[in-house]
Amino acid sequence: MKSKKMIKLLGITLSGILMFSALTGCGAKTSGQAASGGDKKIKIGVSMDDLRLERWQHDKDIFEAEAKKLGAEVVFQSANGDDTTQMSQAENLISQGVNVLVIIPHNGESIAPIVEEAHQNKIKVLSYDRLITNSDVDYYVSFDNVKVGELQGKAIVDKTPKGNYFMMGGSPTDNNAKLFRQGQMNVIKPYVDKGDIKLVGDQWVKDWSAEEALKIMENALTANNNKIDAVVASNDSTAGGAIQALQAQGLSGKVTISGQDADTAACQRVVEGIQSMTVYKPIKDIAAKAAEMAVKMAKGEEVQTNGSVTNNGQKDVPSVLLTPVAVTADNMNDTVVKDGFQKFDDVYKNVPQDKRPSK
Ligand code: GAL
Repeated sequence: MKSKKMIKLLGITLSGILMFSALTGCGAKTSGQAASGGDKKIKIGVSMDDLRLERWQHDKDIFEAEAKKLGAEVVFQSANGDDTTQMSQAENLISQGVNVLVIIPHNGESIAPIVEEAHQNKIKVLSYDRLITNSDVDYYVSFDNVKVGELQGKAIVDKTPKGNYFMMGGSPTDNNAKLFRQGQMNVIKPYVDKGDIKLVGDQWVKDWSAEEALKIMENALTANNNKIDAVVASNDSTAGGAIQALQAQGLSGKVTISGQDADTAACQRVVEGIQSMTVYKPIKDIAAKAAEMAVKMAKGEEVQTNGSVTNNGQKDVPSVLLTPVAVTADNMNDTVVKDGFQKFDDVYKNVPQDKRPSK
């Protein structure tokens, strides 16, 4: 009886001490460095540009699951395409005492000051998928984005080596959009120089918005009397908008058009022959790698990048760049479906049973 009471008393005293230290911050600092010692759970702050696009829901879900496996907790924020919101959400994550900050910037340039602010609070910053430019950002994890553009360009010129091309760039504030364009032009320019391909228009789509892409495509079709043979769209949301405009003119399936992200609707369009290709970027790879890097950064451990760097205008940022995969109707089942990224029944939903590949 006596010993039971003693244990109980000890228990109360111990939890009291723990509570006191949690409140005062004694015994465990709340900065990034702090996570290195003790068994306090690592807190990863994630500031995401825009959860309204399908792609980013995958990143969120997988990242959170991977971080959990590593014993870390994730505090997540989405700015839904607003720079001011993203800045204040990131500042809020810093003041919540996260141990590391993961940022998917809406605007890679204007978010840069957050890096300095994080560093002042001893918090390291990981630039996820999109580069934070002109800053002292600690690490960058993404895909080879020039390669993404090259895959798009190659698939289009293979299908339509001659004709009128409309260039539809991504969001002008996204550094990736510029890299995709660079890759697309690496492939397309020689055909332009030969005179086989004529570039009949070039527009960039604010916030990767499908609605915006629809309007741009409608205007481009009008301006060119519908004489467009190929559309170099940089991702699936913009391809979706452009295809709606093509459909309205009876041109869907007749115009070669690229995409990226292997979104459900885009995969359906690809196997139905309405969209020529998409680019599959295994999100489980980037999200798992990012979670692993973030935990190491929080613990102050070394992160392996195999010497790869990406210049962001201010420094060579140590980088991990993963490999994207071009997907057409021919390899859809062996890539996106086999990898579990999309379900067979969802992708082939509108394809008659006898025309579907075997599961
Ligand atoms: C890019 C990203 C693409 C696409 C696009 C729109 O930065 O690399 O995969 O999702 O944003 O969100």
